[in-house]
Amino acid sequence: MSVVIKATNIVTQFGKNVVHDDVSFEISQGEIFGLLGGSGSGKTTLLREMILLQKYASGSYNVLGKNIKKISSNEAKELRSQWGVLFQFGALFSSLSVLENVSIPLKEYTNLSKDAIKQAALMKIKMVGLPESAAYLYPSELSGGMKKRAGLARALIRDPKLLFLDEPTSGLDPKSARDFDELIVALRDTLDITVVMVTHDKDTMSSVLDRFIILGDKKVQFMGNIKELRLSDNENLREFTNGK
Ligand SMILES: Nc1ncnc2c1ncn2[C@@H]1O[C@H](COP(=O)(O)OP(=O)(O)OP(=O)(O)O)[C@@H](O)[C@H]1O
Ligand SMILES: [Mg+2]
Repeated sequence: MSVVIKATNIVTQFGKNVVHDDVSFEISQGEIFGLLGGSGSGKTTLLREMILLQKYASGSYNVLGKNIKKISSNEAKELRSQWGVLFQFGALFSSLSVLENVSIPLKEYTNLSKDAIKQAALMKIKMVGLPESAAYLYPSELSGGMKKRAGLARALIRDPKLLFLDEPTSGLDPKSARDFDELIVALRDTLDITVVMVTHDKDTMSSVLDRFIILGDKKVQFMGNIKELRLSDNENLREFTNGK
């Protein structure tokens, strides 16, 4: 399987606060790959680095065949068009309907006609399991699960190769969280995308992630799948497997 993201010896520092010290990992095409670790371990920062939103002190990222530190602004634009992102606190614009929220990236980055944009947005709204009627609702009229789905539809609107999700099931009730998990797997299977997901959710970890890293103490403490983690005798990693 081809490698779509490769992080090599990443060091990240905010002033004197070293967040990542020599972090390396590889993500293969088609994987659902997890970024795990305690609060403040640097999961969101790592994700932001991969999508050109955060500087790092040293090391390198190769994303879809490009060394992201050495790209031109045109190449950066091209790369950005190939990923979709659902941020940790990624809010929808409250004054816009779901349809308008989902349409934003196409309005901003393409010359498609109004009608083509509407059709594309409605298709994505359906794809994430929302009823068509939800397209005309405003964020305040949506449940937590529906808001996440609308955000996901927006992330998928440009048919990305990579999908980045930061804590997509946090704040959802257990049933909505499991439904969202199933949706992510179904999307990966049908769209052949690669998913990079930050999560705390143990159910997501064991049922959705193909492989993951666990960050701790500035380093990668573990890289592998859930079976391998359960077999590991590292006491510090127990909290990630307890009861599961
Ligand atoms: N822009 C910034 N300026 C200064 N420090 C930052 C900045 N962004 C992140 N940090 C610090 O980097 C560390 C990692 O933060 P990050 O948000 O990546 O953690 P996280 O693993 O996503 O945590 P959580 O699970 O709570 O979301 C924290 O110590 C945080 O304070
Ligand atoms: Mg975070």
